[in-house]
Amino acid sequence: MREVAVVGLGMTRFGELWQSSLRDLFVEAAQEALVSAGTDHVDSIYVGNMSGGQFVGQEHLAPLMADHLGMAGVSAVRVESACASGGAALRTAFLEVASGASDLVLAAGVEKMTDGADVTNVLATAADQETEVYHGITFPGLYAMIARAHMETYGTTEEDLAWISVKNHRHGALNPKAQFRREVTVEQVLASAMVSEPLRLLHCSPISDGAAAILLCPLYKAAKYTDRPVTILGSGFATSTMALADRADPAILDSVHLAAEKAYKMAGVGPADIQVAEVHDCFAIAEIACIEALSFVDKGQGGKAARSGLTALGGRIPVNTSGGLKSKGHPVGATGIAQAIEIVEQLQDKAGERQVGDARIGLAQNMGGSGASSAVHIFKRV
Ligand code: COA
Repeated sequence: MREVAVVGLGMTRFGELWQSSLRDLFVEAAQEALVSAGTDHVDSIYVGNMSGGQFVGQEHLAPLMADHLGMAGVSAVRVESACASGGAALRTAFLEVASGASDLVLAAGVEKMTDGADVTNVLATAADQETEVYHGITFPGLYAMIARAHMETYGTTEEDLAWISVKNHRHGALNPKAQFRREVTVEQVLASAMVSEPLRLLHCSPISDGAAAILLCPLYKAAKYTDRPVTILGSGFATSTMALADRADPAILDSVHLAAEKAYKMAGVGPADIQVAEVHDCFAIAEIACIEALSFVDKGQGGKAARSGLTALGGRIPVNTSGGLKSKGHPVGATGIAQAIEIVEQLQDKAGERQVGDARIGLAQNMGGSGASSAVHIFKRV
């Protein structure tokens, strides 16, 4: 396999972006990535998107996006894995460059969630219909069950959950592209409206619009496009049971662990080598379970990580320096690419007020549904 470099980045602001359509968002992010690399063409495009059909009535997204980018004729394919669609698109683009099949490949994620769709029910189509959704449960409820299991097994508390939100809002306040640029306190989180016990409003990621794009090429050609190339050292993807009830321990995210093992092995590094990470905090409990599954902390210890400062900016392993899904926003198909962008910018020393010292190796982890699919990518500064 060829070594693969990231040579272009583009991202819209995340939030309720009433003035922009799905295609506008895609084109804005993709053009920024192309301009940043000084190119006006690509060999191939992958579009990460969960549900254009249900959110805005638009399917067949890949040719539409290529057309509106002025690239009708180019190979373009949509990749879907619920909220992990962006991570899956990045992996597919990585494999296409690594294989030698193409030299310049764009992986871009996009979602437009605020145009009036019944968002909670659209999102719930990514859970198991027969054993979960037909009985009335939606994602806040599924993650509430994961939280309950974690609390009962490991003693995690509501305050531990609140600290995830406090940390990620603190980070997001430093991110000009974040949906919520305000800090919150533990007291505010614990006083916010109950969504699905024990998860409150301020434990949840919001409903968002946005797009993010990354341009890849073989490392040996990277100097043509950037003076700060970052390589993708490892890429892993894995699945788990769709239904929570089928898992031996619902507090453990097997797909994250399996994807991480594959990525660590390919990269030739371990969790102790990771200096900055973006993980899938769609609900506060998800960050706790994910940092355990990635082996940043021991099983059951994730609840204390934000509170102790371990995963905050300035801590041993800062997690979600972008503000995470919680504060930066979660336009589902775009999230996996946006996570990768934060890590690449950290490794390029371009993260501004959120910069993590001398970061050389970082990780991005993106998850679909209640953990039925997961992508993990490991990046290194060249
Ligand atoms: N965090 C912080 N503030 C939020 C928020 C969030 N997640 N969601 C909404 N708000 C704010 C809004 O900005 C608004 O503030 P304002 O009154 O000052 O304008 C207020 O809360 C009410 O917003 P509204 O849009 O009416 O909220 P809602 O009750 O319809 O939705 C949730 C709130 C938590 C239910 C919704 O954001 C949600 O479903 N999140 C989870 C998304 C999800 O499941 N993603 C997939 C994960 S697998």
